[in-house]
Amino acid sequence: MSGEPRRIAVFGAGYVGLVTGACFAELGHRVTVRDVLPDRIAALQRGEVPIYEPGLDELLARNRDRLRFTTEVADAIDGAEVVYVAVGTPSTYSGDADLSAVWTVVDELPVVGERLVVVMKSTVPVGTGERVRDRLDARGMGAVGYVSNPEFTAEGTAVRDFMRPDRIVIGAFDAADGDLVAALHAGIDAPIVRSDVASAEMIKLAANAALMTRISFINEIANVCEATGADVVKVAEGIGLDHRIGPAFLRAGVGFGGSCFPKDSLALKQLAANSGYHFQLLNAVIEVNELQKRRVVGKLRHHLGTLRGTTIALLGLAFKPNTDDIREAPSLVLAGRLLAEGADVRVWDPVATSDELHGVTHVDTVAAAVAGADAAVLVTEWPELAELDWEALGASMRRRLLVDGRNMLDRDALRAAGFAYEGIGRGAG
Ligand code: UGA
Repeated sequence: MSGEPRRIAVFGAGYVGLVTGACFAELGHRVTVRDVLPDRIAALQRGEVPIYEPGLDELLARNRDRLRFTTEVADAIDGAEVVYVAVGTPSTYSGDADLSAVWTVVDELPVVGERLVVVMKSTVPVGTGERVRDRLDARGMGAVGYVSNPEFTAEGTAVRDFMRPDRIVIGAFDAADGDLVAALHAGIDAPIVRSDVASAEMIKLAANAALMTRISFINEIANVCEATGADVVKVAEGIGLDHRIGPAFLRAGVGFGGSCFPKDSLALKQLAANSGYHFQLLNAVIEVNELQKRRVVGKLRHHLGTLRGTTIALLGLAFKPNTDDIREAPSLVLAGRLLAEGADVRVWDPVATSDELHGVTHVDTVAAAVAGADAAVLVTEWPELAELDWEALGASMRRRLLVDGRNMLDRDALRAAGFAYEGIGRGAG
């Protein structure tokens, strides 16, 4: 695998596109990132990073000389040997992936004389590569290569995940195109899985489905633990040490959210359904997750009776720590349910905000969120929540009730501080 520097155009300056562009620049390639949003591109040109992603600022700053930002397709393509597609593929009403941004990129590509390889980074349904191939061929661009190179980076750790991945998946119609994409990753020490395009597309969807299945599985075990007196934290430890199971993604909580899992689960469900297959297990995984987001309300009712007129503090808005992303965050469903129950809802998050949450009060500190509250609910496991003086915070509350939606805090310490503590799936404690 040769490590020759290449010229890469990245379409899309979102989380995935920026991380991909910055990491390829770090590996020595010359990268032009193109986006349709002029404000976003102008900010990037000024050296500002429009998203919160640890390590990304440093990477962009360090590789300034090898990175350019533009809104112009021609500018991005000029001299490029590889075009990465990293645009959004949100869900449509039917649950299918909305590929309109992908098609725009493909259709906007100029008919070029030189050899060019288009690489799909966006998560797309199986079969998309074939369709892109047909579309390129129909425009007389048969010489343009196509490769699927799905991303497995998680928000908050995306830079590390890109530079030190578990594996790199490359699905190509033509082996030489796959070789080129493999060579772009020279300097990264990871196994490379080479496959056909459809299998690469499916690897991405199946990986996310497997991870979601583990979360819904442990959440259901947690719910049975609550009913039977077992402690899911111990159960997860006990099963995770079995090498066939492994410890990752066995944290019970208020359910998964984010820009990927909810959308990708729907896309895979719909992909199966469109092919005439009813994906029962995935349907259950999605349903369990929806119910899990709502279970906290029952816990609050158990302690407080009716929630009408109560004040509830939600600690954390982001779908997980170290990101400002609130897409499909469990906090949104929880806040909506609590408001519907007639509670006053105060929300604290160190990074994330939401204009969509009508009727809640945003506050800047945990102290302001819990003062006079009837209960606090830990929704996102921000590390600073473990460092707080809960005894002092408890003293300011109307009732010392804490629902720990991530099993993060020391329940013995909380109880010693006079709290009624409820975790997720911690029956006996
Ligand atoms: C996820 C995958 O982890 C990435 O590999 C993938 O590339 C990405 O989706 C994508 O398709 O783009 P991400 O959504 O950023 O990444 O975040 P995760 O760390 O996977 O967390 C997803 C959700 O699962 C969060 O709400 C988190 O709180 C929840 N979770 C995770 C649990 O409830 N329990 C766990 O044990 C682990």
